[in-house]
Amino acid sequence: MTLPVEAGLHRSCCLIDTASLSHNISVLKKGLAPGAEIAAVVKSNAYGHGVRIAWRAFVEGGATWLCVDSLHEAQELRDDGYTGNLFVMGHIPPAHAKTAVSLDVRCMVYDRRQIDALGEAANAASRPLRLVMKLETGTQRQGLTIEAALNLAHYIARFPYLVLEGTATHFANIEDTTDHSFAYEQLRIFNEYNDILTANGFRPTLRTIANSAAGILWPHTHCELVRAGITCYGMWPSTECYVSARLLGKDVDLRPALTWKTLIAQIKTVPAGSLIGYGCTYETTHESRIAVLPVGYYDGYDRAMSNLAYVLIRGKRAPVRGRICMNMCMVDVTDIPDAEPGDDVVLLGRQGGESLSAEQLATWAGTINYELTTQIQTNIPRIAV
Ligand SMILES: Cc1ncc(COP(=O)(O)O)c(C=O)c1O
Repeated sequence: MTLPVEAGLHRSCCLIDTASLSHNISVLKKGLAPGAEIAAVVKSNAYGHGVRIAWRAFVEGGATWLCVDSLHEAQELRDDGYTGNLFVMGHIPPAHAKTAVSLDVRCMVYDRRQIDALGEAANAASRPLRLVMKLETGTQRQGLTIEAALNLAHYIARFPYLVLEGTATHFANIEDTTDHSFAYEQLRIFNEYNDILTANGFRPTLRTIANSAAGILWPHTHCELVRAGITCYGMWPSTECYVSARLLGKDVDLRPALTWKTLIAQIKTVPAGSLIGYGCTYETTHESRIAVLPVGYYDGYDRAMSNLAYVLIRGKRAPVRGRICMNMCMVDVTDIPDAEPGDDVVLLGRQGGESLSAEQLATWAGTINYELTTQIQTNIPRIAV
């Protein structure tokens, strides 16, 4: 067995099940409130899934918007042929304003310096540029208080080609707890701010507050746009979110789409008492067959999983032994006697009847599924299957 030819000279690759990505969008769309559309968040290389593969699958599944963090990511999507609604949610430095206009993106705004630059670039191109103002409701990240938002709205109105289309905010802890009182308060503030803006003549026609968790749990937050990230990739935002959904009687069939594969580079039999890897952190208690895998923390296989994680070989779990190195790691295949060099190894995903979820790996790594998949090196090939 070998890796697919598309993996080229790489020693690991990610297989992306595009049907599952499209399926997740159609499942999320079914739960949408009337009038709401779904934006698939494809920032950070589509949460590690490979943006060029993911965006097409999402559009096929019915996503009518894509969200990214940066203009750099927006440029990649436009270069790859995406012509639809595109929202840059992260910072756009004033120096990049011309590109924002030429790429025809929605821009998240919260600062006069941005408005000056965007207004000037839109004027120069004689092209309208649509803006979404970020409102502060409790995350203390980007965002404006209502006084600052009103000021900025008045300021934007001075620029003939700038269109204040919408408002946005972001939940701080909706996925962290089953107690949603803080999130409710954020929603209340968001609605109140929108009412005040409307009363002052700035009626936002594109309001967006919902992320994945709110997308599933609270249709009354959907407004005009749900910005769904993690659920598009078939993963739950958290255990708490899953529990909350079950308590609300929501049956949401999300399908993970990513399988990360490598192969066995070498197998050696070592005597009892052998110390494995840097720092000599694992000592064999009996004669052991140790397989060396050509994947390490440089590839995104988190070093925190040293001596904790398992991989799948011939449909069985093999434990990681010793510290994960920069480009290699070692696993114990003593109990998989037929394992041999060249065998397929699944680091994340399914093999036979066994599976290793991103949530399971994240627990071993002391992190969350979001970080686990986004940290898989961008240069590792993503292959659509
Ligand atoms: C502003 C913003 N909106 C939406 C999302 C999507 O969140 P989730 O993946 O939980 O759906 C993110 C993710 O980080 C975000 O930063």
